[in-house]
Amino acid sequence: PTPVILDCDPGHDDAFAIVLAAFSPEELSLLAITTVSGNQSLEKTTLNALRILHACGFQENSIPVAKGASAPLMLPELAQPKSQEESISLIVSTHYDTSYHQPLVGRHPVEVHGESGMDGAEFPSTVIPKLDQRKAWNLMADIVQLYSPEFPLTIIATGPLTNIALFVTLYPELRRNIRIVFMGGTFERGNIHPTAEFNILHDPEAAHIVFHCGVSLTMVPLDLTHQVLVTQDILGRIHALNTPFAKNMAGLVEFFRNSYQKTFGFASPPLHDPCAVAYVLDASRFETQLIRVEVETGKGLCAGQTVGDFYGRYLRKPKNVNVVQKMDIEWFWHRMLQSLTKANEQ
Ligand code: BDR
Ligand code: CA
Repeated sequence: PTPVILDCDPGHDDAFAIVLAAFSPEELSLLAITTVSGNQSLEKTTLNALRILHACGFQENSIPVAKGASAPLMLPELAQPKSQEESISLIVSTHYDTSYHQPLVGRHPVEVHGESGMDGAEFPSTVIPKLDQRKAWNLMADIVQLYSPEFPLTIIATGPLTNIALFVTLYPELRRNIRIVFMGGTFERGNIHPTAEFNILHDPEAAHIVFHCGVSLTMVPLDLTHQVLVTQDILGRIHALNTPFAKNMAGLVEFFRNSYQKTFGFASPPLHDPCAVAYVLDASRFETQLIRVEVETGKGLCAGQTVGDFYGRYLRKPKNVNVVQKMDIEWFWHRMLQSLTKANEQ
Protein backbone atom coordinates (compact mmCIF):
# COMPACT_ATOMS: atom_id res chain seq x y z
CA PRO A 1 0.00 0.00 0.00
CA THR A 2 1.01 3.63 -0.59
CA PRO A 3 2.36 5.25 2.60
CA VAL A 4 0.39 8.40 3.38
CA ILE A 5 0.23 11.29 5.83
CA LEU A 6 -3.08 13.17 5.83
CA ASP A 7 -2.86 16.88 6.64
CA CYS A 8 -6.35 18.22 7.33
CA ASP A 9 -8.66 20.72 9.05
CA PRO A 10 -11.80 18.72 9.96
CA GLY A 11 -14.20 19.89 8.74
CA HIS A 12 -17.21 17.89 7.50
CA ASP A 13 -15.64 16.64 4.28
CA ASP A 14 -12.25 16.18 5.97
CA ALA A 15 -13.98 13.71 8.32
CA PHE A 16 -14.97 11.63 5.26
CA ALA A 17 -11.41 11.93 3.93
CA ILE A 18 -10.12 10.49 7.22
CA VAL A 19 -12.54 7.56 7.00
CA LEU A 20 -11.62 6.81 3.37
CA ALA A 21 -7.88 7.01 4.16
CA ALA A 22 -8.10 4.92 7.32
CA PHE A 23 -10.30 2.19 5.82
CA SER A 24 -8.70 1.45 2.45
CA PRO A 25 -5.88 -0.77 3.77
CA GLU A 26 -5.22 -2.57 0.49
CA GLU A 27 -4.17 0.57 -1.34
CA LEU A 28 -3.16 2.97 1.37
CA SER A 29 -1.34 2.91 4.68
CA LEU A 30 -2.26 5.92 6.83
CA LEU A 31 0.85 6.63 8.93
CA ALA A 32 -0.18 9.89 10.62
CA ILE A 33 -2.70 12.70 10.65
CA THR A 34 -1.61 16.31 11.03
CA THR A 35 -3.93 19.24 11.62
CA VAL A 36 -3.98 22.87 10.61
CA SER A 37 -6.03 25.99 11.23
CA GLY A 38 -8.66 26.32 8.52
CA ASN A 39 -12.30 25.35 8.77
CA GLN A 40 -11.95 26.18 12.45
CA SER A 41 -9.18 27.06 14.92
CA LEU A 42 -6.28 24.63 15.27
CA GLU A 43 -7.59 23.52 18.67
CA LYS A 44 -10.97 22.63 17.20
CA THR A 45 -9.74 20.94 14.01
CA THR A 46 -7.36 18.85 16.12
CA LEU A 47 -10.07 17.81 18.56
CA ASN A 48 -12.27 16.92 15.58
CA ALA A 49 -9.56 14.71 14.05
CA LEU A 50 -9.16 12.87 17.36
CA ARG A 51 -12.92 12.51 17.74
CA ILE A 52 -13.41 11.00 14.34
CA LEU A 53 -10.57 8.50 14.84
CA HIS A 54 -12.00 7.52 18.19
CA ALA A 55 -15.48 7.16 16.70
CA CYS A 56 -14.02 4.77 14.09
CA GLY A 57 -12.63 2.59 16.87
CA PHE A 58 -8.93 3.50 16.72
CA GLN A 59 -7.17 2.90 19.98
CA GLU A 60 -4.88 5.46 21.55
CA ASN A 61 -1.94 6.46 19.32
CA SER A 62 -2.49 3.72 16.75
CA ILE A 63 -2.49 6.54 14.19
CA PRO A 64 -0.43 9.46 15.53
CA VAL A 65 -2.14 12.87 15.36
CA ALA A 66 -0.01 16.02 15.57
CA LYS A 67 -0.93 19.69 15.57
CA GLY A 68 0.52 22.10 13.05
CA ALA A 69 0.13 25.80 12.35
CA SER A 70 -2.40 27.86 14.28
CA ALA A 71 -2.48 30.67 11.70
CA PRO A 72 -1.48 31.36 8.11
CA LEU A 73 2.18 32.29 7.49
CA MET A 74 1.59 36.01 7.09
CA LEU A 75 -0.91 36.91 9.79
CA PRO A 76 0.26 39.67 12.17
CA GLU A 77 0.12 37.49 15.32
CA LEU A 78 3.15 35.66 13.96
CA ALA A 79 5.24 38.87 13.74
CA GLN A 80 7.36 38.24 16.88
CA PRO A 81 9.14 34.92 16.44
CA LYS A 82 8.93 32.76 19.54
CA SER A 83 9.00 29.32 18.01
CA GLN A 84 10.38 27.46 15.03
CA GLU A 85 7.10 27.87 13.20
CA GLU A 86 7.06 31.61 13.79
CA SER A 87 10.68 32.17 12.76
CA ILE A 88 10.08 30.43 9.46
CA SER A 89 7.04 32.61 8.88
CA LEU A 90 9.20 35.65 9.36
CA ILE A 91 11.86 34.42 6.95
CA VAL A 92 9.14 33.75 4.42
CA SER A 93 7.61 37.18 5.00
CA THR A 94 10.80 38.96 3.92
CA HIS A 95 10.13 37.71 0.39
CA TYR A 96 6.73 39.30 0.22
CA ASP A 97 4.97 42.57 0.80
CA THR A 98 4.61 42.54 4.58
CA SER A 99 1.79 45.07 4.50
CA TYR A 100 -0.28 42.40 2.80
CA HIS A 101 -3.54 41.87 4.51
CA GLN A 102 -6.80 40.51 3.26
CA PRO A 103 -9.70 40.04 5.69
CA LEU A 104 -10.45 36.56 4.34
CA VAL A 105 -6.95 35.26 5.00
CA GLY A 106 -7.01 33.15 8.15
CA ARG A 107 -10.77 33.46 8.64
CA HIS A 108 -12.75 30.37 9.75
CA PRO A 109 -15.89 29.79 7.61
CA VAL A 110 -18.44 29.39 10.43
CA GLU A 111 -21.29 29.73 7.91
CA VAL A 112 -20.20 26.46 6.26
CA HIS A 113 -18.75 24.30 9.08
CA GLY A 114 -20.34 25.78 12.23
CA GLU A 115 -18.84 26.75 15.60
CA SER A 116 -17.21 23.38 16.26
CA GLY A 117 -15.94 23.01 12.67
CA MET A 118 -17.90 19.75 12.50
CA ASP A 119 -21.43 20.77 13.55
CA GLY A 120 -24.19 18.23 12.98
CA ALA A 121 -22.47 15.26 14.64
CA GLU A 122 -22.23 14.40 18.28
CA PHE A 123 -19.04 12.42 18.49
CA PRO A 124 -18.05 11.86 22.11
CA SER A 125 -15.38 14.32 23.21
CA THR A 126 -14.23 12.32 26.22
CA VAL A 127 -11.75 9.42 26.27
CA ILE A 128 -10.23 10.52 23.01
CA PRO A 129 -6.76 9.37 21.92
CA LYS A 130 -3.77 11.43 23.03
CA LEU A 131 -2.08 13.93 20.79
CA ASP A 132 1.46 13.34 19.52
CA GLN A 133 3.66 16.05 21.04
CA ARG A 134 5.65 16.78 17.88
CA LYS A 135 4.78 19.71 15.61
CA ALA A 136 3.14 18.54 12.38
CA TRP A 137 6.16 19.33 10.18
CA ASN A 138 8.60 17.60 12.55
CA LEU A 139 6.43 14.50 12.66
CA MET A 140 6.30 14.60 8.84
CA ALA A 141 10.10 14.80 8.73
CA ASP A 142 10.55 11.86 11.12
CA ILE A 143 8.38 9.70 8.88
CA VAL A 144 9.41 11.04 5.46
CA GLN A 145 13.13 10.45 6.11
CA LEU A 146 12.38 6.72 6.13
CA TYR A 147 11.35 6.92 2.45
CA SER A 148 13.27 7.59 -0.76
CA PRO A 149 12.87 9.08 -4.25
CA GLU A 150 12.30 5.52 -5.53
CA PHE A 151 9.69 4.79 -2.88
CA PRO A 152 8.17 8.15 -1.92
CA LEU A 153 5.54 8.93 0.70
CA THR A 154 2.37 10.77 -0.34
CA ILE A 155 1.17 13.75 1.66
CA ILE A 156 -2.54 14.31 1.12
CA ALA A 157 -3.56 17.85 2.09
CA THR A 158 -7.22 18.69 2.59
CA GLY A 159 -6.81 22.02 4.40
CA PRO A 160 -4.80 25.22 3.90
CA LEU A 161 -1.21 24.45 2.86
CA THR A 162 0.51 26.10 5.86
CA ASN A 163 1.96 22.90 7.40
CA ILE A 164 3.20 21.63 4.05
CA ALA A 165 4.87 24.97 3.25
CA LEU A 166 6.63 24.87 6.62
CA PHE A 167 7.70 21.25 6.08
CA VAL A 168 9.23 21.83 2.63
CA THR A 169 10.93 25.02 3.86
CA LEU A 170 12.37 23.49 7.02
CA TYR A 171 13.40 20.18 5.43
CA PRO A 172 14.30 20.92 1.79
CA GLU A 173 16.42 17.76 1.63
CA LEU A 174 13.31 15.65 2.24
CA ARG A 175 11.34 17.11 -0.70
CA ARG A 176 12.69 14.36 -2.93
CA ASN A 177 11.02 11.71 -0.76
CA ILE A 178 7.45 13.00 -1.14
CA ARG A 179 4.69 13.70 -3.56
CA ILE A 180 1.71 15.86 -2.67
CA VAL A 181 -1.97 15.47 -3.56
CA PHE A 182 -4.10 18.36 -2.36
CA MET A 183 -7.70 19.52 -2.47
CA GLY A 184 -7.72 23.21 -3.22
CA GLY A 185 -7.98 25.95 -5.81
CA THR A 186 -10.41 26.57 -8.61
CA PHE A 187 -10.33 27.54 -12.27
CA GLU A 188 -14.01 28.42 -12.43
CA ARG A 189 -15.89 30.07 -9.60
CA GLY A 190 -14.62 30.43 -6.06
CA ASN A 191 -16.29 29.50 -2.78
CA ILE A 192 -14.83 32.15 -0.47
CA HIS A 193 -14.41 34.98 -2.99
CA PRO A 194 -15.48 35.17 -6.65
CA THR A 195 -12.27 33.63 -7.95
CA ALA A 196 -10.77 32.03 -4.82
CA GLU A 197 -11.18 28.67 -3.15
CA PHE A 198 -11.07 28.49 0.66
CA ASN A 199 -7.95 26.35 1.29
CA ILE A 200 -5.86 28.58 -0.97
CA LEU A 201 -7.15 31.98 0.16
CA HIS A 202 -6.80 30.97 3.81
CA ASP A 203 -3.01 31.01 3.27
CA PRO A 204 -1.98 32.14 -0.24
CA GLU A 205 1.73 32.44 0.61
CA ALA A 206 1.79 28.83 1.78
CA ALA A 207 0.23 27.80 -1.54
CA HIS A 208 2.86 29.86 -3.38
CA ILE A 209 5.67 28.07 -1.55
CA VAL A 210 4.15 24.67 -2.29
CA PHE A 211 3.56 25.47 -5.98
CA HIS A 212 7.23 26.46 -6.29
CA CYS A 213 8.85 23.72 -4.20
CA GLY A 214 9.64 21.32 -7.03
CA VAL A 215 7.70 18.37 -5.56
CA SER A 216 5.27 16.39 -7.74
CA LEU A 217 1.88 18.05 -7.11
CA THR A 218 -1.62 16.82 -7.92
CA MET A 219 -4.41 19.34 -7.44
CA VAL A 220 -8.06 18.46 -6.91
CA PRO A 221 -9.86 21.76 -7.58
CA LEU A 222 -13.47 22.82 -7.00
CA ASP A 223 -14.09 22.29 -10.72
CA LEU A 224 -13.94 18.56 -9.93
CA THR A 225 -15.38 18.42 -6.41
CA HIS A 226 -18.49 20.41 -7.36
CA GLN A 227 -19.50 17.38 -9.42
CA VAL A 228 -19.28 15.04 -6.41
CA LEU A 229 -22.57 15.67 -4.63
CA VAL A 230 -24.01 13.77 -1.68
CA THR A 231 -27.46 13.12 -3.14
CA GLN A 232 -30.49 11.98 -1.13
CA ASP A 233 -29.84 8.46 -2.36
CA ILE A 234 -26.29 8.43 -0.96
CA LEU A 235 -27.39 10.03 2.28
CA GLY A 236 -30.02 7.29 2.56
CA ARG A 237 -27.33 4.64 2.15
CA ILE A 238 -25.29 6.19 4.97
CA HIS A 239 -28.37 6.27 7.23
CA ALA A 240 -29.09 2.64 6.35
CA LEU A 241 -25.83 1.54 8.01
CA ASN A 242 -27.87 2.22 11.08
CA THR A 243 -25.34 2.64 13.91
CA PRO A 244 -24.45 5.64 16.10
CA PHE A 245 -21.34 6.17 13.94
CA ALA A 246 -23.38 6.20 10.71
CA LYS A 247 -25.92 8.52 12.30
CA ASN A 248 -23.15 10.99 13.10
CA MET A 249 -21.69 10.80 9.59
CA ALA A 250 -25.19 11.38 8.16
CA GLY A 251 -25.57 14.29 10.61
CA LEU A 252 -22.43 15.83 9.15
CA VAL A 253 -23.85 15.54 5.64
CA GLU A 254 -27.15 17.09 6.71
CA PHE A 255 -25.48 20.08 8.36
CA PHE A 256 -23.23 20.50 5.30
CA ARG A 257 -26.25 20.26 3.00
CA ASN A 258 -28.01 23.05 4.88
CA SER A 259 -24.87 25.22 4.80
CA TYR A 260 -24.48 24.68 1.08
CA GLN A 261 -28.16 25.39 0.44
CA LYS A 262 -28.06 28.65 2.40
CA THR A 263 -24.64 29.85 1.31
CA PHE A 264 -24.36 28.69 -2.29
CA GLY A 265 -27.81 27.48 -3.34
CA PHE A 266 -26.70 23.85 -3.86
CA ALA A 267 -29.47 21.26 -3.44
CA SER A 268 -26.93 18.61 -2.38
CA PRO A 269 -23.53 19.36 -0.85
CA PRO A 270 -20.23 18.56 -2.57
CA LEU A 271 -17.81 16.25 -0.73
CA HIS A 272 -14.48 17.85 -1.63
CA ASP A 273 -11.75 16.33 0.50
CA PRO A 274 -12.12 12.55 0.03
CA CYS A 275 -11.63 13.09 -3.72
CA ALA A 276 -7.95 13.78 -2.99
CA VAL A 277 -7.70 10.53 -1.02
CA ALA A 278 -9.46 8.67 -3.84
CA TYR A 279 -6.77 9.81 -6.28
CA VAL A 280 -4.18 8.00 -4.19
CA LEU A 281 -6.35 4.86 -4.07
CA ASP A 282 -6.51 4.55 -7.85
CA ALA A 283 -5.18 7.29 -10.14
CA SER A 284 -6.43 5.33 -13.18
CA ARG A 285 -9.98 6.44 -12.26
CA PHE A 286 -8.97 10.07 -12.91
CA GLU A 287 -8.18 12.31 -15.88
CA THR A 288 -5.52 14.93 -15.26
CA GLN A 289 -3.59 17.59 -17.15
CA LEU A 290 -0.09 18.73 -16.25
CA ILE A 291 0.08 22.52 -16.51
CA ARG A 292 1.73 25.58 -14.93
CA VAL A 293 -0.27 26.89 -11.98
CA GLU A 294 0.46 30.06 -10.02
CA VAL A 295 -1.39 31.68 -7.14
CA GLU A 296 -2.19 35.36 -6.72
CA THR A 297 -0.53 36.50 -3.48
CA GLY A 298 -1.34 40.17 -3.97
CA LYS A 299 -4.31 41.88 -2.38
CA GLY A 300 -7.44 42.91 -4.18
CA LEU A 301 -10.16 41.33 -6.19
CA CYS A 302 -8.29 38.21 -7.29
CA ALA A 303 -6.39 37.48 -4.04
CA GLY A 304 -5.89 33.75 -3.63
CA GLN A 305 -6.89 32.93 -7.21
CA THR A 306 -5.21 29.89 -8.75
CA VAL A 307 -4.19 30.73 -12.30
CA GLY A 308 -3.67 27.78 -14.63
CA ASP A 309 -2.05 27.97 -18.07
CA PHE A 310 -4.07 25.22 -19.76
CA TYR A 311 -2.76 26.08 -23.23
CA GLY A 312 0.86 26.08 -22.07
CA ARG A 313 1.39 29.39 -23.85
CA TYR A 314 1.44 32.20 -21.33
CA LEU A 315 3.26 31.42 -18.10
CA ARG A 316 6.72 30.67 -19.39
CA LYS A 317 7.81 28.36 -16.61
CA PRO A 318 7.93 24.56 -16.29
CA LYS A 319 4.66 22.72 -15.73
CA ASN A 320 4.30 22.16 -11.99
CA VAL A 321 0.81 20.86 -11.18
CA ASN A 322 -1.09 17.82 -12.33
CA VAL A 323 -4.66 19.16 -12.32
CA VAL A 324 -7.49 16.65 -11.87
CA GLN A 325 -10.27 17.23 -14.37
CA LYS A 326 -12.45 14.13 -14.21
CA MET A 327 -13.05 11.24 -11.85
CA ASP A 328 -15.11 8.06 -12.05
CA ILE A 329 -17.77 9.32 -9.64
CA GLU A 330 -19.71 6.07 -9.38
CA TRP A 331 -16.52 4.25 -8.37
CA PHE A 332 -15.80 7.01 -5.84
CA TRP A 333 -19.15 6.54 -4.08
CA HIS A 334 -18.71 2.80 -4.08
CA ARG A 335 -15.34 3.17 -2.29
CA MET A 336 -16.58 5.89 0.06
CA LEU A 337 -19.53 3.77 1.18
CA GLN A 338 -17.34 0.70 1.46
CA SER A 339 -14.97 2.51 3.83
CA LEU A 340 -17.89 3.87 5.88
CA THR A 341 -19.21 0.32 6.19
CA LYS A 342 -15.81 -0.94 7.39
CA ALA A 343 -15.45 1.94 9.88
CA ASN A 344 -18.91 1.14 11.07
CA GLU A 345 -18.02 -2.46 11.80
CA GLN A 346 -14.76 -1.70 13.62
C1 BDR B 1 -12.34 23.07 1.08
O1 BDR B 1 -12.58 24.05 2.09
C2 BDR B 1 -13.18 23.48 3.21
O2 BDR B 1 -14.38 24.13 3.45
C3 BDR B 1 -13.39 22.02 2.92
O3 BDR B 1 -13.06 21.22 4.04
C4 BDR B 1 -12.48 21.73 1.75
O4 BDR B 1 -11.20 21.29 2.17
C5 BDR B 1 -13.29 23.30 -0.07
O5 BDR B 1 -13.10 24.56 -0.60
CA1 CA C 1 -10.78 20.63 4.42
